[in-house]
Amino acid sequence: MFTDPAELRAALQGRGTVGFVPTMGYLHDGHATLMRWARQSCDTVVLSIYVNPLQFGPNEDYASYPRDLERDLKVARSAGVDFVFAPSDATMYPPGFSTRVSVNGVSDTLDGLSRPGHFTGVATVVLKLLNLVRPDKVFLGEKDWQQVAVLRRMITDLNVAVEVVGVPTVRSEEAASLGLALSSRNSYLNEEQKARATVLSRALRAVQAAYAAGERDTQALKQAGLNVLKTEPDAQLDYLTVVDSNLQETPRIAEDPFNRILIAARMFGVRLIDNMPLSAN
Ligand code: PAJ
Repeated sequence: MFTDPAELRAALQGRGTVGFVPTMGYLHDGHATLMRWARQSCDTVVLSIYVNPLQFGPNEDYASYPRDLERDLKVARSAGVDFVFAPSDATMYPPGFSTRVSVNGVSDTLDGLSRPGHFTGVATVVLKLLNLVRPDKVFLGEKDWQQVAVLRRMITDLNVAVEVVGVPTVRSEEAASLGLALSSRNSYLNEEQKARATVLSRALRAVQAAYAAGERDTQALKQAGLNVLKTEPDAQLDYLTVVDSNLQETPRIAEDPFNRILIAARMFGVRLIDNMPLSAN
């Protein structure tokens, strides 16, 4: 494991193509899947573990965010990671640090509205990590669909020489067809709460089913999901939307393979997000 970027850079010399998986740790099988994808297509795999204070709002869970470095190192090793980079706050944000990367437009909707400054924090730390690691490919989970859109925009706009690979969401084993999207924050929930939190993925599947049945009116599609959500009184909806590849909601659905259903809700004090393609195939 490296905490010093210069030592990491030295270790990466002559190691061929580099695949990079940025994370905040407390690793689960979603993270491990990104590592395995990187393992398959790159000579060397770098995982970063850094709970980035810049992307948490003042009333969010930065202090209580789950951390377990020792366990994470084992998960990383068994997924074939070569190097773990776990920088300190002093390395990432030394005194005098004053730059922010804000990606306008795509950051300004959905999670960006509920979490002001969040995507600026994400874009800033990821650009720093990309500059420190200098990977050929960066692996990002589609579980955070808007995050992928924000980072793709930043990488294009700022001519960052890295290829983005989006990896489909990994869901909980139990009831695989309805499973909860794996998330480090699921550790805040007990087993019964996790089972009830599958209402998010069930709502998304109801929208997919309505679309498959021929519905193309966005409000009607959303209503199909809301009807499922209503069955779970503990779910406080933040948003349920159907968006195109630009994260825009339009009154009627146009054919676009990147059409996506996105949901965010608070349940049992935890903010949960999920998304699926509109067309299930
Ligand atoms: P974190 O939430 O730890 O997630 C790290 C990566 O794992 C992200 O690309 C995320 O989309 C992906 N991931 C999480 N759950 C997943 C799942 N169930 N299936 C597939 N991929 C999943 O996202 C962040 O950290 C941070 O914002 C970060 C990009 C590291 C910047 O700080």
